[in-house]
Amino acid sequence: AIDIKTLRGTTGYITIDPGFKNTGSTQSAITYLDGENGILRYRGYPIEQLAEKATFLEVAYLLIYGELPTQTELKDFKESITNHTLVHEDMKQFFEAYPSQAHPMGVLASMVVSLSTFYPESQDPNRSSEAVDLTIHRLLAKLPTLAAMSYKNAVRHPFIYPKNELGYVENFLNMMFAMPTEDYKPNSVVASALNKLLILHADHEQNCSASTVRIVGSSQANLYASISAGISALWGPLHGGANQAVIEMLDKIQADGGDLDKWIAKAKDKNDPFRLMGFGHRVYKNFDPRAKIIKKAADDVLEQLGVQDPALDLAKKMEKIALEDPYFVERGLYPNVDFYSGIIYKALEIPSEMFTVMFALGRLPGWIAQWKEMIENKEPIGRPRQIYTGANERDYVSIEKR
Ligand code: ACO
Repeated sequence: AIDIKTLRGTTGYITIDPGFKNTGSTQSAITYLDGENGILRYRGYPIEQLAEKATFLEVAYLLIYGELPTQTELKDFKESITNHTLVHEDMKQFFEAYPSQAHPMGVLASMVVSLSTFYPESQDPNRSSEAVDLTIHRLLAKLPTLAAMSYKNAVRHPFIYPKNELGYVENFLNMMFAMPTEDYKPNSVVASALNKLLILHADHEQNCSASTVRIVGSSQANLYASISAGISALWGPLHGGANQAVIEMLDKIQADGGDLDKWIAKAKDKNDPFRLMGFGHRVYKNFDPRAKIIKKAADDVLEQLGVQDPALDLAKKMEKIALEDPYFVERGLYPNVDFYSGIIYKALEIPSEMFTVMFALGRLPGWIAQWKEMIENKEPIGRPRQIYTGANERDYVSIEKR
């Protein structure tokens, strides 16, 4: 804490905590996380039970509305989401204007904020709770459509429209992988692994992107704008971008001859910026409970699909070496959820640029729940303080005298 003069001239304190390692920004009833003991619960329900038994939409409802839905509530929720899966035809023109190499996260963030221009009522901070629900349902319905469109656009394939008779996950897979002449045949192992992945990513309390959503929303910016900001925060390689970075790292090691010892030595060398992507976590210093669940799903997917991929073999070896190496053990650096999610996405032939988009699809209900809680609790605008370390007062010097 640093002694300062407050705005009204009285003495006060400002705590300096870069990265907010020990600063709580809010009270929240959504997600319980105990990093020391590897516990993660949504609204009290252990993540292990939800991943095993629930569907992604049930979990979305739980996070957003606080309780598991009854049969009728779930039916109405699904129906409403199914009714809103189409995006405005004019949005197709936005996609066409992007360069072919456009990163799908950049495209997704822009498309989501663009939704606010098609639904201007979302910009009214005094809208009714029904109007808020409509915005929430539209977001949940349209994000998979927009995500699949950004992929189809990147590979220059025609867009596939949503199919309302399919489930949430199956519809997304169909929009990603079907062609106008041929439906995608969803494999139940793939759909189940994806359902699990989305659930495991659905919320993680006050992480970088959730905090971003809350802070942007605290200015009463609309929900689409707040979620778009969350997508941008998630894009970074130290956050959601890590799953893409994992596969790119494995490909790089592979191309370099596959000498794992050399790369592990680089990760341990403090003069080398290289880090093992997919290892370590800000709050889990023993293990990431999501990683435990998803490791099994990854093993199932690889086995059932019979995938043979040298990069995935390398991942298995890396996991083994790092788990035994004192450098990683002493620092509590274990494979995190992104290590395994990247492996599953690769096995599903989802291109690496899309990995973080997949994370965003999963995280959407959490972001919405965090935003809704912040609004309902009437939290003040987020506005951190600072300790000024710049120059003292000085006089302007004309340009010819500088
Ligand atoms: N490889 C090698 N060394 C590492 C790694 C790594 N992946 N992660 C941390 N370390 C080392 C640091 O160099 C530091 O060592 P030191 O104490 O000798 O200086 C020590 O472990 C602690 O690391 P910090 O950076 O202080 O830990 P922090 O909590 O700030 O960072 C983070 C956590 C960002 C996740 C970090 O572990 C990292 O960069 N991992 C790789 C990227 C990644 O996988 N991110 C995904 C996070 S999960 C998610 O977003 C869903």
